[in-house]
Amino acid sequence: MREQVFVLGGAQTSFGELWNKSLVDLIDEAVAGAIESSGILPTDIDAVVIGNMVGGELSGQGHLGALVSGGLPHHPPALRVEAACASGGVAVHTACALLESGKAENVLVIGAEKLTDAPNDLVTSAIMNAGNSDRDTVAGLTFPGIFGLIANRYMYDYGLTRDDLSSVSAAHHEAAVKNPYAQFKKSIPRDVISKSAPVADPLRLLDCSPISDGAAAIILSTNPSDVQISASQVATDHVSLADRTSMTSFLSTRTAFQNALKEAGWNRNDIDCMELHDCFSIAAILHLEDMGFAEEGQGVRFYKNNQTHANGELPINMSGGLKACGHPIGATGVKQILDCYKQLTNRAPNQVPNCRRALAHNIGGIGATCAIHLLEHA
Ligand code: COA
Repeated sequence: MREQVFVLGGAQTSFGELWNKSLVDLIDEAVAGAIESSGILPTDIDAVVIGNMVGGELSGQGHLGALVSGGLPHHPPALRVEAACASGGVAVHTACALLESGKAENVLVIGAEKLTDAPNDLVTSAIMNAGNSDRDTVAGLTFPGIFGLIANRYMYDYGLTRDDLSSVSAAHHEAAVKNPYAQFKKSIPRDVISKSAPVADPLRLLDCSPISDGAAAIILSTNPSDVQISASQVATDHVSLADRTSMTSFLSTRTAFQNALKEAGWNRNDIDCMELHDCFSIAAILHLEDMGFAEEGQGVRFYKNNQTHANGELPINMSGGLKACGHPIGATGVKQILDCYKQLTNRAPNQVPNCRRALAHNIGGIGATCAIHLLEHA
């Protein structure tokens, strides 16, 4: 029979421009915090999985699995997982597979990325490796450019306005005010967002998740705790938008979410809060539609109607999400699980009342990979 997976604890570094910390410093800090918070001994860890995208390219540091394992007294088996911005979520999925199969009893899962030491043009090129080099990169596209195209198409199809888009970032910034780990702990009104510097029309600076450093780590176990992972699913799609039938819907999210609901035996209305992959404001709107929380063209309504806060109809990104908490690529998917764990144990800075069931949604590239985790209070 398949083993159940529980979260024993976890920790994260601050997210932001952390110039005095290397990639390895960030990993060490998160790992020490996760071990301490979970109450296990380092020697109880049977395996290590780390999610990271550009350590080799931007920090000159590859081989991260062995690097982490080397810091543990008994050097357990370790591997690095790369799935672009979904590296963290896919690392969690890999750890779940090890635990479910009985290969391990306790797994240390880490997500980490160090971006801000490099100039932004180098970071932008490194991130663009998540696209299709023969189709997207040669066409001069960047991730803000691709999501700008998606936003233009969506506005044309559904009449979304510039002010509508701003309501997404405004809500996520508002949520981050209480999060001590967030990169931008300030609320920003819609009109300031709408007038921020143009990046890739119609997207502006404040529609985009920032360039960030940070790490998060959790301990997953087959030993029971208060929080269970009830579903862990990964789905994929064509890497390039050019190969897809729609610019405004991501098949990987649809597939992973449907499979996750089936695995957990949940209905989408069972979900009390979610961490959503808002790499760009338009993305949050698409994801809500792809998961069926709103009809096509209606995803923004939760934001426009101010219903995403802790007491709202659908609490979204109580951490501030990628937009305001920050987006250290490989760290994000693990940090989302940690945020859900905090919500479900009543320890979140922005606590959703009576939170029993939570969703973590993490995409890589233009949604070419999607990792979905459903967590519940056991
Ligand atoms: N949100 C809020 N503030 C931001 C920000 C953001 N996304 N990005 C930068 N800032 C702030 C900076 O802190 C800085 O403030 P300061 O002047 O008070 O120090 C100011 O805005 C200018 O920042 P800077 O780094 O010079 O901006 P930039 O123009 O070089 O880069 C983006 C801005 C949006 C292009 C960059 O953040 C980006 O590429 N984001 C997307 C990353 C990405 O593609 N991730 C993968 C997703 S799939």
